[in-house]
Amino acid sequence: MTAGPAFALAAPSLSALLLSSEAAGGIAPTDGKIPGHWSPTDPNRPPIDGPKGQELWRRADKVMPSYAMFLTRSARYAGYNVLPGFMAEAQGCRVKDADGRSYIDYTASAGPNLLGYRHPEIEAAARTQSESGDLMPMFSPAMIDFCERLLQWTDGFDWALPLKRGSDATELATRVARAATGRPHILMFENSYHGSNREQSLLFEGTPKDALEHLSRLPWNDAAALDNYKASSGERVAAILMSPLDQPGGNYPTHTASPEFVAAINRFRKRTGALVILDDVRAGFRLHPKGSHMAMGLQPDMLCLGKALGNGHAIAALMGTEAVRGGAERLLYASTYIYSAVSCRAGIATIDVYERDNAYASMQRAGERLMAGVKKAAAQYDQNMNFSGPATHPTMFYNNDPDSALMERFSNEAAK
Ligand SMILES: Cc1ncc(COP(=O)(O)O)c(C=O)c1O
Repeated sequence: MTAGPAFALAAPSLSALLLSSEAAGGIAPTDGKIPGHWSPTDPNRPPIDGPKGQELWRRADKVMPSYAMFLTRSARYAGYNVLPGFMAEAQGCRVKDADGRSYIDYTASAGPNLLGYRHPEIEAAARTQSESGDLMPMFSPAMIDFCERLLQWTDGFDWALPLKRGSDATELATRVARAATGRPHILMFENSYHGSNREQSLLFEGTPKDALEHLSRLPWNDAAALDNYKASSGERVAAILMSPLDQPGGNYPTHTASPEFVAAINRFRKRTGALVILDDVRAGFRLHPKGSHMAMGLQPDMLCLGKALGNGHAIAALMGTEAVRGGAERLLYASTYIYSAVSCRAGIATIDVYERDNAYASMQRAGERLMAGVKKAAAQYDQNMNFSGPATHPTMFYNNDPDSALMERFSNEAAK
């Protein structure tokens, strides 16, 4: 059993998801005359799912509300029939759809499985713990081991808390910031995604307007906008919530925070006393082996981790400095499954394997090779393709493809 490569392409949305098919096992191919873009309801759109996948779609539509709830996991979001909708198996870097076709998953399941699906050592650590117990009536030693391992993994923080989702970490961080400062406002940036919490979500249907009153979004990488942010409002800002790079979605390039922008963040916190929360849920372990703040030259007050932290096991974390510990101590943030010992053991094993195998260097090499190879092939076939972001976190896009039609077409061809 071999683990997959420590590499994952960033998927800003599933329309840019690349799953390259390895074998067309009994699925009727499309006739090759695929237009760039179909509407989900277009009856002429050729199915990419096999019979089992199509049947699962029919059943899914009856039992689950579609689109919103499973936005980034749904093939319907990418455009119906661009990609297979259902994956039934995963191992290493490979996944199999419901009809048994095999693909290489360059997205690592949209981030979490950086070390490959079902990594033997991480699974063994989880299994061993599960044989002793997972949820128990009191805290488990695994929880403390996990927090200590996180504090040993990176510098600049004094406490850590285990959580389940990246959204838990970003939500809790803003609550800690508000409790620590006594201020209401959170500053975020355009083209950012921080989870599905009602204040941070991108879709606000179902959220009362006044719930968004203490939130502003400024343009990304715009130092002047931060410098000019009104002093009176600045004094009400509890925290800046930011990621190491923006996330425009669709077929648009991403941009890491520029050094000028980081300098403006530091000026802002000095001028106003606002805290800085770094949302490293998506980029964590991919911009620097010890957390993206190290690559950015920024010391945040809190760091949010998720996704790659458990290599597919449901574990996230919030880390913080001594200065904000008091804020964290005044909150109630209980949740049944955050006390899972199995997830904590998986998180510890993930960091151990990541460090021992120097996974960051492997990602760097694999990313550079992939980008160079795709660019070379694209040039050969006159395809106007490009990459944004670092080699350890690349996002592929077509130049001049505003509605993602070319990217969808590419994904569809790759998945066939
Ligand atoms: C930057 C960022 N923050 C937070 C989240 C939310 O994490 P989760 O989906 O685990 O709640 C995500 C998820 O994609 C993310 O990309």
